[in-house]
Amino acid sequence: MKKIKILAIVGSLRKESYNRQLALAAKEILGDRVDFALLDYQDVPLMNEDIEFPAPEAVKRVREEVKSADGIWFFTPEYNHFFPGVLKNLIDWLSRPNSDKEPQVLAGKPAAISGTSPGMAGTSLAQDHLVTLISFLNMDVMNAPRLTIPYVMQQLDSDGKLALKDSYPFLEKQANAFVDFIQKRVQDQ
Ligand code: FNR
Repeated sequence: MKKIKILAIVGSLRKESYNRQLALAAKEILGDRVDFALLDYQDVPLMNEDIEFPAPEAVKRVREEVKSADGIWFFTPEYNHFFPGVLKNLIDWLSRPNSDKEPQVLAGKPAAISGTSPGMAGTSLAQDHLVTLISFLNMDVMNAPRLTIPYVMQQLDSDGKLALKDSYPFLEKQANAFVDFIQKRVQDQ
């Protein structure tokens, strides 16, 4: 069977982002069982219909990366009980095709969601909003298990890096579940 490709989309542009570190931990758990890449989308401009056609190069690139992935794994922080605007901007661009001859790239794509935050909600409100959006865009959402890690500051090592003390087994469980979820869909194609 062909190796499946998972594309991680992190809803934070911060270099030391805990959610980025969470994505890297998932990559390490999955090892060489899958191709796992993190989407770089810092250069995607703010959505503006005046510049929508032809699509900016950065937008074409991220659409291609999503198109070639078998599954998308979102790792999002929570900003004001929502997911960050940079992620909404990216999804808005992805929700529209390069031309009216093509479908949008998110439709039918398997999706998983994880997140960590300093607060007690552990991004659950942000995740609920994200599910509403990506379901509207017809993504194939794995609703269970989802991973919410609250009180991230209690999960750091002495260097301030995410150590995932208590949460590691839950990330492992979600990673395995997402691989199964994608593989079932790839086999059915
Ligand atoms: C936050 N933060 C935050 N945290 C939280 O638990 N609940 C919240 O509603 C918010 N709101 C919020 C709004 C804005 C505008 C910012 C910039 C930050 C804190 C935030 O979750 C924290 O800095 C995380 O560490 C950000 O995720 P990364 O960058 O570490 O992945």
